Amino acid sequence: MTLSPALSTSRTPYAPSLRCPDCGARPVLTPTRTQPLPGGTFGLLCCPCATYPVIDDIPVLRRGRIDSQDHLTGRCEVEGPTADELVALLRADRPLDALVALLAFPPPAPLSHRAGLRLPFTRGPWPRLALAARRREVRAMLADLGALTAQDWMELAYDRSSDRIDDELLPYFLGRFGQPRFLATTALLRALPDDGSGAVLDLACGFGHVAHHLAAREDPRPVVGVDRNFLQLWVARRYVAPTQSFVCADRVDALPFDDDAFAAAVCSDAFHYFEAQQGCLDELRRVAASDTVLLDRLGNARLAPADGPAEREAAGYVALLRGAPWRLTCEDELLEGYRAGYGPQLAAPRHPSELDGAKWLMLVTSRDERVLADHGSFTALPHAAGTPTLNPVFEVAHHDDGVHLAFAFPSTWFAFENAAMLRYTSAGERVDAATFEALVAGRPTDRTADLLRRCVLLGMPERYRRPPGSAARSVLGGLCRGVRRRR
Ligand SMILES: C[S@@+](CC[C@H](N)C(=O)[O-])C[C@H]1O[C@@H](n2cnc3c(N)ncnc32)[C@H](O)[C@@H]1O
Repeated sequence: MTLSPALSTSRTPYAPSLRCPDCGARPVLTPTRTQPLPGGTFGLLCCPCATYPVIDDIPVLRRGRIDSQDHLTGRCEVEGPTADELVALLRADRPLDALVALLAFPPPAPLSHRAGLRLPFTRGPWPRLALAARRREVRAMLADLGALTAQDWMELAYDRSSDRIDDELLPYFLGRFGQPRFLATTALLRALPDDGSGAVLDLACGFGHVAHHLAAREDPRPVVGVDRNFLQLWVARRYVAPTQSFVCADRVDALPFDDDAFAAAVCSDAFHYFEAQQGCLDELRRVAASDTVLLDRLGNARLAPADGPAEREAAGYVALLRGAPWRLTCEDELLEGYRAGYGPQLAAPRHPSELDGAKWLMLVTSRDERVLADHGSFTALPHAAGTPTLNPVFEVAHHDDGVHLAFAFPSTWFAFENAAMLRYTSAGERVDAATFEALVAGRPTDRTADLLRRCVLLGMPERYRRPPGSAARSVLGGLCRGVRRRR
């Protein structure tokens, strides 16, 4: 198979501080003879107790089946190959087959909304044939790696795959760069210690939005992102933050890194999902110099709706720190500070009960006094870090007098979760056709700065969104493309 030139990056195929989560030894990489994708390494990582696959630079430190799991409950949404099957494919020098096995989520059964009529499509030869067609579709997409965007892969996974996947996931991840939680996160990240080149661990990194921001902001940082869902990591590695490193691992209380491997550890919008919260926080502090950990967006159990059963009250999260120094703030305060142009105010200690009325808490701990301080004003808008790109929350309509951009929440749940967007995002804009064309092509215009300020444009990775107006593929269209593709 010949692959088109893709997004190539120079990178270490895995974090140098990596160690086996079970035996603690440093694993040794043996690359496969065939390396099917430009700029990416496939191979086997061996330690005294295990052999782990490395797929396109991503070590997969999981045992058993590498399913795609629901974020909150861990329920299997898409069955994946087992770690042993991946190792066997790599030993047989079939690295591309290993990647395809991880990325090819089966298409939904036809008539999936009609319980009686869908039966023939859920058993017999159909599911096998449908999965084979999806694998060919993924191979065809991989041949176009450099021409596609993160959006194309998000749509494949969330819009054209298993009907066990939550419909909200696509707007939730695609729209991340303009959401209040992301602006608040970028403000919180101003508190990272100013240690020059020290890498930051981003645990439960999803599609790598934080990793993009830390690569593109004025004061850039290398990031190692860890998540259990491989597809998300791979899209992060190839499209969202291609200069950063990623590791697929699911044991938050046995992090596969050396002590003090990172300048700081971050966990954004995920810690309150974990069952093993004490073990996880102990581990985050172990791997971070000066025990610097930023827990971003923790659900406060005092306020409904609960984001799962493991939420705690503010004092409950603080109790996990075993007496280490800490500061608390919340998303609303960070967002207010962001809009006024400054970072987190962490100098003054507060009582946890002062945050009783805040749903989304931020807990920062460090032995480095520079972290628990008031962080000053921004010199550049954090949400502008990256290539100016149209915020997906805007619908585009072409008229005789130019192009109309209208703010439209994609769903009721999205509107509920992101209502604060209305405070800082333009309701609508009109731009002339030539300006719109320049904006879509990423060329500077005299409207760019203003549209960035009003969050009509957001800084994004270069290959994040398809150009507005280009149609998404249908399930059938995608599968037919795979079938048509010549071997
Ligand atoms: C709500 S998403 C947040 C993703 C990312 N931090 C962001 O803010 O965009 C939660 C993430 O936690 C990950 N996650 C949940 N439990 C995990 C575990 N035990 N190990 C690794 N990742 C986990 C999920 O796969 C998902 O990507």
